Parts: sequence; C-alpha cells; structure tokens
Amino acid sequence: MLRTICLFILVFLSFLSGYGQIVGPRKAVDPYRYEPVKAASFERASVASAHALASQVGAEMMRRGGNAFDAAIATQLALAVVYPVAGNIGGGGFLLGRKADGQLIALDFRETAPRAARRDMYLDQDGKAQTELSQNGHLAAGVPGTIAGLFASMSYAKLPFRDLIQPAIDLAALGFVLSENEARSLNWTLGNFKKYGTKPNAFTARKEWKAGDTLVQKELARTLELVRDKGAKGFYRGKTARLLVAEMKRGGGLIDLQDLKAYEAKSRTAMEFSYRGHQIIGFPPPSSGGVILGQVLKMLEPYPLGQYGFQSPEAVQLMVEAERRAYADRATHLGDPDFWKVPVSELLADAYLKNRMGDFVPGKASESKLIKAGEFRESEQTTHLSIVDAEGNMVAVTTTLNGAYGSKTVVGGAGFLLNNEMDDFSIKPGVANMYGAVGGDANAIAPNKRMLSSMCPALVLKDNKPFMVVGTPGGTTIPTSVLQAVVNVIDFGMNAEQAINSPKFHHQWLPDLVDIEKDFPEETRKKLAAMGYTFRLRDGIGRTEIVLIDRDGKRMVAADKRGEDSVAGY
Ligand code: DON
Repeated sequence: MLRTICLFILVFLSFLSGYGQIVGPRKAVDPYRYEPVKAASFERASVASAHALASQVGAEMMRRGGNAFDAAIATQLALAVVYPVAGNIGGGGFLLGRKADGQLIALDFRETAPRAARRDMYLDQDGKAQTELSQNGHLAAGVPGTIAGLFASMSYAKLPFRDLIQPAIDLAALGFVLSENEARSLNWTLGNFKKYGTKPNAFTARKEWKAGDTLVQKELARTLELVRDKGAKGFYRGKTARLLVAEMKRGGGLIDLQDLKAYEAKSRTAMEFSYRGHQIIGFPPPSSGGVILGQVLKMLEPYPLGQYGFQSPEAVQLMVEAERRAYADRATHLGDPDFWKVPVSELLADAYLKNRMGDFVPGKASESKLIKAGEFRESEQTTHLSIVDAEGNMVAVTTTLNGAYGSKTVVGGAGFLLNNEMDDFSIKPGVANMYGAVGGDANAIAPNKRMLSSMCPALVLKDNKPFMVVGTPGGTTIPTSVLQAVVNVIDFGMNAEQAINSPKFHHQWLPDLVDIEKDFPEETRKKLAAMGYTFRLRDGIGRTEIVLIDRDGKRMVAADKRGEDSVAGY
C-alpha cells in the first residue's frame, strides 16, 4: 500500500515538474525554459556554442564524467537539432583538439564532391557560371561528413555514444521552444524549404512560426535513433542512405549510395606556429583557416601592434594589408591536399612572408589588382563550439551547412538539411562564390575532392599550457575574426568577452574593400579612407566562441553577442 502511494506521489510530482519534457541525463536540460548566458568563469569545465541548450548538453556530459571530446560530440549533435540554420548531420566540418597529455588531433570531416561531379558542372552551354545551382537545392550538396567525424572523434571520448546522442534524440522527439529570432529565421526560409525540398517536413509543418512555439522533429529523431543503434552505418547505409539517395533522385542531385558508403573522415596533421611567445595550433588544408591565420600573424609579428593601439589607423592598416596578401595566396595555392600540392611550409616560411610585406607602405593603401599570389621557385552558415574540460583537454569544432539552412533541401522522411558546400569550390576561375572568394585550379571541382574551406578552429598555448580555444562561423571572414580574437587577447590585453565582442573589420583581397561592423571607430575609418581604403558596412561579422584559461586554471568563457550563443559549465 505504502509503495503504491509513494509511486503515485512520484508520478504526480514528475507530471508537475514536466517529466518527459525535460531532456537529457539527470533531466538537467529544459528545452522549454532556457536563456542564453553570454559569459562566465568556471572552475573546471566550459562550453561555448551557438545555442544555450546545446551548451548545456555539453556541460552535462562533462559533469557525468565525460571529457571535452564527449562534450563536443554531444554538443554538435544537439546543435543539429536546436540550431538547424547551421548545426547539422547533413554537412561537414573540422575538429581540432589537444589532449591534456599534449597530443594534437585534427579531424577532417569536410564534405566531398559526389563521384559524378565534374569540373564544369555548374556552367551552362555558354560557359556561364550558374551559382543558383551551386548554392541551392539538390545539386549544391556535397557528401555529408559530420556523422563520420563524430565517430572518428569517439576514439578520444570516454562515454558510450548512445549517451552522447540521446539528448539530441530527445530534443528532436519532444521538441524545444523557439526564440523570436529562430521563429523569424524559419519564417524567412519557409518558401525556400518548399521550393528546394520535395516532401513536407518539420519546418514546413506550420504556415508561420512564433516565439514560444515548439519545434518537434520526429523524422530527425528517427534518423538519430538509427545512428544511435547502428553507428555510422545508420547514416551512410541502410534506410537513411536510401532516403537521401531517393531525395537526390527526386531533385536532380548527384549523391548516390556508393558516395555515402565510401565517405571517410580523415586525420590531418595540425599546424603549429608561434606568435609572440604563444604556440598557435590551426587546421591545415582542406581548410584555408590555419594557413591564413598563420600567414597573417607571422606578417604582423615584426611590428609593435600592441603599441599602435586597438583599432588605431596604424594597427588596422597593417592587419588589412597582411590579410590582403594572405587571401591572394589562398585563391591560387589552396585546395584539397589529396588532389593538389598545397605549399603549406613555403607559404608560412619567415623569409617568404617578410618578402610578401616588402611592398607594404604605412599610410598608403595597396591595390589588390597589383597584389598577386606569391610564387615559389619550387614546388554566413556555420557554427563553432569551444570546449575545455577539467583535465585540460581542449576542443574546437567548426561545422557547416555553408549557407543558412544549407541547400534548403530537407531529406524527405529523414528530417535533416543537406549542405550547399559545393559552392565552396571554385566553380569557374575568377567567379566569386557566395562569400566573394575566387579560386582556380587548386580548388576546381573533381570527383571525391574536398572543397576549400575558411573554417579556422584554433587553439593557443602559453608556456606549453592551454590558454585559448577559439573559432567562429562567417565564411571567408572566419580567419580574420579568429585573428582578431587572438591579437585582441595577446596584443591588446583584452578579456574573453572584449576579445570577441569588440567591433570587427575584414579584408579578403577581392573585392578590394574593407568590411566593417557598424561600431567600428569612425575616426579610424576616416583616416584610412584618406590613405585610399574603401569601406563596406556589414551586419555582424561572425559568432565567435572563446575559452581563455587564466593562471589559476579558471576557464573564462564567452559566447558572441551577435547571436543567441551561450556558455555553460561548472
Ligand atoms: O567552409 C567554409 O569556409 C564555409 N562553407 C563556411 C560558411 C560559413 O561560415 C557561413 N557562416 N556564416
């Protein structure tokens, strides 16, 4: 009798507290009541990501005994549900990690061109580039890499995969409450979901979304369950693969069963270089992120940037000129290293970079049309998460669908969005991609090749100890946003929040413009305009997530003010 009464009270209390609506182990994440937390200082472990629920899921995994890799896997999976604009299982990305024992890990799960892809597949009969096809719909999608990347990351994790994926399954099955921005963003894209998809899906379930609505994604939950129960095969083979290929057939895409079966994440060698006594660790090609970050920092190092003052005309001009030269090199020399000999060490050689800045004139703008890529005698949607755990493992992951909601094609019956990463190839020499980047042979389309990326997860060590984990979305602005976070801390002595929330600028060689955010200092803009620079005002650049570790081991973590990004930890 007593047992029955107790059971009844327990069930009643659970009902009152919304049991079954609260996701995750220990029911620590409430998808119906959550607020972004923009910055905090934690004693042991911290996560910063694009969504409060995803950060909470990651922190919870570490509380349960998982490490930063467990947290990264669970956070990414949660982002695939609660941040459909960029979080994904239908896209790809890069994980950069450093284990507490010093081992560096660089996992490349970038999408590949389907085997039926051809160099000129986006050119019409007159040879004109059709960017609509590389940017939207079925033909824009590369073979997704995220699930393979997650399973490759499992070698460094401690908890069982089924525990790491369960919160994402619950969030998809039970739903989560939309913020006003999320509802608005879905409403903007509803027409495109219908245009570029072939079946109804969770996003098209309503005519209009409002703040406070619950987004339930049953089909996605089912797909995630298949991955939980069958591993990577639950995605690359069997039902999910068949649904994806059927979607391709209905919409004229190229990805087939063989492409999915053959997809592999690759282990790369992390790039390491020094900057003013710090050790910087960056991601190598097929991302351009690490190379650009390394080149620009090395070009800046001979100059007393800190003395010039934050966003003084001298400091901004120097950074812009270094960026211009690095992006000119990107356009010619960078591509998938398995298809193109990328001269990484040459591009980062001290003598080469000194020479590259040889024609820099303080007080006078260079012209991009006169700056070419160096020669050698020889030879706006993505999302980032930054994590440091109690042991000192560091993980930075940037993943992407490319544009907002990728190709806008949801796989019918499987509930996930496909990327439009094919647009990151150079679809024709000199034709700009959606981020204005141009390229040539190094980044031309070829079957099974990875398209060049700008993603730039980065780690910084000081005295060989963890110091900074940083990264951001933002297309071609990614490396310059990461660069600014790094110099803001190292040269300008900023804290985590200031380092990522201060106004930003960006130059990428072509177009020959300096992009600035609206709070960029007007005095500096005027002085630079007098030197010959042209400006373009842009909405917020990037969404940077940063963790800084201070001398006492405290983790100071900040999530970008430009979005609903959020931190969590303990
Ligand atoms: O890999 C790249 O460089 C791009 N696909 C990233 C796209 C991106 O960051 C969009 N975010 N705003």
